Amino acid sequence: MKHDVIIACDFKSAEDTFRFLDLFNNEARKPFLKIGMELFYAEGPAIVREIKRRGHRIFLDLKLHDIPNTVKKAMAVLSRLDVDMCNVHAAGTIEMMKYALEGLTRADGTRPLLIAVTQLTSTSEERMQRELLIGASIDETIVKYAQNTREAGLDGVVCSPLEAGMVHEACGRDFLTITPGVRFADGDVADQVRVTTPARAREIGSDFIVVGRPITAAADPVAAYRRCVEEFLGETC
Ligand code: C5P
Repeated sequence: MKHDVIIACDFKSAEDTFRFLDLFNNEARKPFLKIGMELFYAEGPAIVREIKRRGHRIFLDLKLHDIPNTVKKAMAVLSRLDVDMCNVHAAGTIEMMKYALEGLTRADGTRPLLIAVTQLTSTSEERMQRELLIGASIDETIVKYAQNTREAGLDGVVCSPLEAGMVHEACGRDFLTITPGVRFADGDVADQVRVTTPARAREIGSDFIVVGRPITAAADPVAAYRRCVEEFLGETC
């Protein structure tokens, strides 16, 4: 599916994760889930296998960044884990991204989606220029990294929903944008700064939205997930 809502499963243990996922046992639509470093490093590949067994698609958000050969070998391992989406840092260079893609591609030519992180949203333009000695503006850097990602043959980038239009303009409509920083219009923003609603994210051109606490911390997570799908995809579930 080209567009979807991905729930960020930012839980510290398998126990907390499955307590949350059990809420969806009677749902026809199995949510697409994002598993990050905290949960993966705590529970290892077993949690990926168990979540796949339950019928969910998985975005494994480990943001690989190393020499090309190491990334290629690590990606081959993730590919065998049968995840649906994984990622690297575009800062690792076009060559590293090409190697990542090679590692991820199975003998039969299939592979999970591969996306890249451009500049983390936690990096300010000021820090990027002063500490990383990148003289360009943050928007120019994001567009350049997205173009590098496309040149390497990857499927898209993680970015703010507010940057999705800019990325599509530079890289084409088919190049995917996966966007966190989504909040309901009447919801709590928490520590996110630049946020949009699911409906607005779709209008700007987001392909996948990544939503954590508005669903995981809701009084009724299933209702919050359904609302998100309805607002983003315009379909009821
Ligand atoms: O709870 P919330 O909806 O803010 O969660 C957003 C998820 O997206 C978290 O897992 C967070 O780490 C991730 N993320 C983000 N901003 C980025 C990259 C990833 O919020 N630039």
